[in-house]
Order: sequence, then C-alpha cells, then structure tokens
Amino acid sequence: MLILGIETSCDETAAAIVRDGREILSNVIYTQIPLHAPFGGVVPELASRNHMEKISPVVEEAFRQAGVKKEAIDAVAVTSGPGLVGPLIVGVSFAKALSFSLGIPLIGVHHLDGHIAANYLSFSDLEPPFLALILSGGHSHFYNVKAFGDYELLGATRDDALGEAFDKVARMLDLPYPGGPHLEKLALEGKPSFELPVTLLEEGSLDFSFSGIKSAVKMLIDKIDLEKERANVAASFQETVFSIVTEKIRRALRLSEKKRIVIAGGVASNQRLRALLDELPAEVLYPPLSICTDNGAMIAAAGYYLYEQGKCSPLTLNARANLSLSSTEDLWITCG
Ligand code: KG4
Ligand code: ZN
Repeated sequence: MLILGIETSCDETAAAIVRDGREILSNVIYTQIPLHAPFGGVVPELASRNHMEKISPVVEEAFRQAGVKKEAIDAVAVTSGPGLVGPLIVGVSFAKALSFSLGIPLIGVHHLDGHIAANYLSFSDLEPPFLALILSGGHSHFYNVKAFGDYELLGATRDDALGEAFDKVARMLDLPYPGGPHLEKLALEGKPSFELPVTLLEEGSLDFSFSGIKSAVKMLIDKIDLEKERANVAASFQETVFSIVTEKIRRALRLSEKKRIVIAGGVASNQRLRALLDELPAEVLYPPLSICTDNGAMIAAAGYYLYEQGKCSPLTLNARANLSLSSTEDLWITCG
C-alpha cells in the first residue's frame, strides 16, 4: 500500500511517499527557517503564505523522487493538528482536494502520532506496546503506546516544552533561530561549570518543568561576563535539562515496568542526548536525524496504521490547532 504523507503544521512544507508504513520511497522537506530567522521565531502569516506557494511543488517532487504516478497511491495522510492553524489549513485542504480528485481515502493524523511513527520507519520490527517520550518545540510528553495509535498520557511539561526552552535560552545567548541545534554546537566548546536547578517535581511524577531553569539562566547571564562564558552557559543548560530527561526516563521505565522506550521529536536529534540515552540500562530507540524533525514520511507511516484499523477521515476534516493525542477519535469514520 502506497501512502502520500503531507505535513505543514509549522515551518516545514513536507511530503513523502511510504510503502506499507515502513519503507520510505521519497521524503521531501522544504524548510522555511531562513524566512523566519530574521524575526527570531515563526511568523504564522508568513508561514501560511509560504506553505501555499510550496505545497504543490513539494508534493510533485515527492512523486518524482519516488518514481510513482499520482494514480498509483492508495491513500493520502495529512497532519490535521496540533500546530499553527493557517499552515495546517494549507496541508489539510491540499490533501482533501487530492483525496477527492483521485477518489482515494483521506487520513487525518495527529502530529505526535507521526513523530512516534518515525520509529516504525527506522525499526522494521518495532510494534507496541512501548513507552514513548516526545521532545519537540511544542511538546514534552510521556505516553504509554498500548497499540498502534492508542496512547495513554503519563506525564507532560507543566510550562515550556524542551525544544521551546532550548530556543529561548539560545536567544538569550544571541544564537540564530531555531536555537536548539546552534546551542548544541556551542555547548561542545564549553563545560557545564554553572549549577542550575534540577527540577524533578514530586516523587513519581513524569511531568516536566523547564521554565525555572530558563529563568535561572537569565539571572546567571545578568551576573557574568557573557562574552567569555557563552559556551559554558550553553553546556550547563544542556547538561541540566538532559540530566532531568534521563532521570525521568529511568522513572518511567521503573514505574511502567517496561524495558523499551522510543524517543521522538526535534530535540531527539541532539547528539549529546543520544550519547546519554545510550548509557541507560534499557532499550532506547530514536529515529535517524533525517526523520526526527518534521517530515511527511512520519505522517504517512502513522496514516498507514490508522488505515489498517479502518480509520479514515471524511472530507469535512478540519485543521485543529489544539488537538490532544488522547482525543483524536472524532478525526475518523470507518474507511470504505
Ligand atoms: O519536532 P520539531 O521539528 O517540531 C515541532 O513539532 O515542534 O522540533 C523542533 C524543536 C525546536 O525547538 C528545535 O530548537 C529543537 O526541536 N531541536 C533541537 C535540536 N534540533 C532541533 N534541540 C536541541 N538540540 C538539537 N540538536
Ligand atoms: Zn514536530
């Protein structure tokens, strides 16, 4: 079964063709990062306009690279939320038009279901149940993945998402947007010489809180010679938040009595985090760099498993800016 996956929830216009939820035939990502960089963050109105310009050529390119004709695909999967509403509408409308004109099923996908499904593309034997931790620009959430597409929320950030905290601290250090990868690079030149609060919350809690660390970095910066200490501040922030992440993973494995956890989302592309995860006494999986950040292949993979369960979307599918992963049922009706 060939599925076209479309992703436009934020600042990447992405389309991919995936066979049977596991094999990537093409994965085209057009990033708007240079467009938003001068503003230090995503400008929703600019993002929507740029998605409108790029969606058609990006989808064409996905077909070209896969060597597949439009008529050969069996379904179209699209991110319906969460994300920026304007950008989401572009992808959802395009997918609806394709589904209608080709007479093939439409499958609305939750963005985080996509990030987790990126692991199905990398590990051909991976099947639920397993634990999942999503670390992206908008989410820092632990889930118990009970079956394909069946998620139980175990914990979440109470304030900033980890990627968001990276971006905000990077901004304090005058690094370009999006800050995560730049902060990682800068940290390589420094040492974690400053102590920052290790916020673990109540015993047994799988929630996160990163805003206190962010404020502590701000206060630290006001006190020191920032020019001299930039790399050390970056390293201290990174080591502190990753010590929290690894401790929470240990906790989650202990509490759930599971031995396997899947990590997903943009922050999972951080090499320092990967090195720390590799030291954990458990099977910790994360996708290759190319499919950690937003892409269409992960949406096609998630769409495949929804289709397998008979879940398709009506042409009334909407963009949903605030869609929770545990309340997606109204995205679908029975396929057919
Ligand atoms: O998953 P993603 O591409 O988009 C969302 O769904 O949010 O994640 C983007 C986030 C940004 O906050 C970005 O700074 C962060 O992931 N990120 C990183 C790294 N690469 C991306 N954070 C830390 N280290 C990285 N190497
Ligand atoms: Zn994402």
